[in-house]
Amino acid sequence: MKHYLSIKDIDSLPEWVDEAISLKKNPYQFQDLGKQKTICLLFFNNSLRTRLSTQKAAMQLGMEVMVMNFGSEGWTLEYGNGTVMDQGTSEHIKEAAQVVSQYCDIVAIRAFAKLQDRAKDEAEEVLNGFSQHASIPVVNMESSTAHPLQALADAITIKEFGKTKKPKVVLSWAPHPKALPHAVANSFVEMMRLQDAEFVITHPKGYELNSDITQGCTIEYDQDKALENADFVYVKNWSSYSEYGKILHQDCNWMLTKAKLGYAKFMHCLPVRRNVIVEDAVLDSDQSLVVEQANNRTYAAQVVLKKILEAH
Ligand code: CP
Repeated sequence: MKHYLSIKDIDSLPEWVDEAISLKKNPYQFQDLGKQKTICLLFFNNSLRTRLSTQKAAMQLGMEVMVMNFGSEGWTLEYGNGTVMDQGTSEHIKEAAQVVSQYCDIVAIRAFAKLQDRAKDEAEEVLNGFSQHASIPVVNMESSTAHPLQALADAITIKEFGKTKKPKVVLSWAPHPKALPHAVANSFVEMMRLQDAEFVITHPKGYELNSDITQGCTIEYDQDKALENADFVYVKNWSSYSEYGKILHQDCNWMLTKAKLGYAKFMHCLPVRRNVIVEDAVLDSDQSLVVEQANNRTYAAQVVLKKILEAH
């Protein structure tokens, strides 16, 4: 495997999930694989889970880890071809990516959508700039349109807590005071398409995700109906895709309550706004899997790094 940029880089989801669960049982079984190898984690945006779990995964494989908050500490990068760089940008991605490639063996990037220009976000200039110009493998730690490490951790969690061969999994939109990107929801949908599950997406009209991603999925605008007999309820906010980056409304009736959850397990990628996205009674109950999901971020990252190290 050259890069891990999206769910499409997973050749067999069931095998990767089983491998992650095996790594979780014995995290140091491949501690020599990454010996004398270095991973560099470049953050253009904030993080808690991604930063620490990816670092832990790399360390359990014996790797050295370098972390840089590129967004606040690096030079402002230019991505255009032939640009006369007499304005705000100081360094071109062509040099930056090649230079980073001299210092490490794998580079992992976090660069969120700016939600101002859909075409620009979908061009993924940071992630694609690095994958195009770096000479080393690139890992997506959440880009404008995808969060494949999170979705892999979610698949591991569903496997661990699923009680039936074909669980009902619901992805539900919830209100949020700030406009949020589509990356988590996109990758969750892409991952669920690889699962043997009854999968339903529910959101208010106007919050349809990119139809290229949801093509063929069941979309139910009535949240109560969607949640009937669910085994897993994954709650997430995203801004409008059609009116790109806009908050159309914040209907608080879409917040997930204990009554709506029924007997299902609750999932969220975190961080989560309590009593906006989901009420305390859900998060504080034993039906919440959010901490288990966060724990599985380590083994999702570890299986990805292991596969990259084995291929090089
Ligand atoms: N879920 C997730 O990616 O968490 P962080 O933003 O804290 O890394």
